Amino acid sequence: MTKPAHRIAGILAMLCVAIFFTSTVVTELFGSHAAVAQLKSLIVTPGLWIMVPLMAAAGGSGMLLAGSRRGRLVDAKKKRMPVIAAIGLLVLVPCALMLNRWAAASVFDTTFYLVQSIELLAGATNLTLMGLNARDGLRMAGKLR
Ligand code: HEM
Repeated sequence: MTKPAHRIAGILAMLCVAIFFTSTVVTELFGSHAAVAQLKSLIVTPGLWIMVPLMAAAGGSGMLLAGSRRGRLVDAKKKRMPVIAAIGLLVLVPCALMLNRWAAASVFDTTFYLVQSIELLAGATNLTLMGLNARDGLRMAGKLR
């Protein structure tokens, strides 16, 4: 039961970050300020309320699955997870909250775009780390060579 739950939580958590990232880039490049503000609001509610529990579920179920298992792949996954969680909670969540507040007040100044860039960089980093965890998970499950 833990394995399918872990697979689903992991893949959905990654999908969530990927959707936030892509929709942000597309809206920033081609959308109006109103569209940006609308997206920022959606990323906070319901976005963060979906992403944070999914990340916690992926990490928690992964740790349960790993148990006392040792090995290069499982150790690498264990090391990446705190970094993923820290970037999520300490960078992505605060950035999303600040950007939403500023966009709602139509404040699109240099600080907005600086924080936006930080958010995109953190999002790309987390996507990479989660992708590596998915790859190593599939390798451990014998589904990837
Ligand atoms: C967001 C982070 C993570 C993602 C995206 C992720 C993704 C995956 C995926 C896609 C699988 C393959 C499941 C299958 O098809 O059978 C998997 C398996 C697994 N993952 Fe993760 N995982 C994450 C975090 C973790 C963590 C923190 C651990 C703890 C060490 C972990 C341990 C495992 C284990 C033990 C397996 C099962 C391997 C086997 O079947 O032998 N995962 N993971």
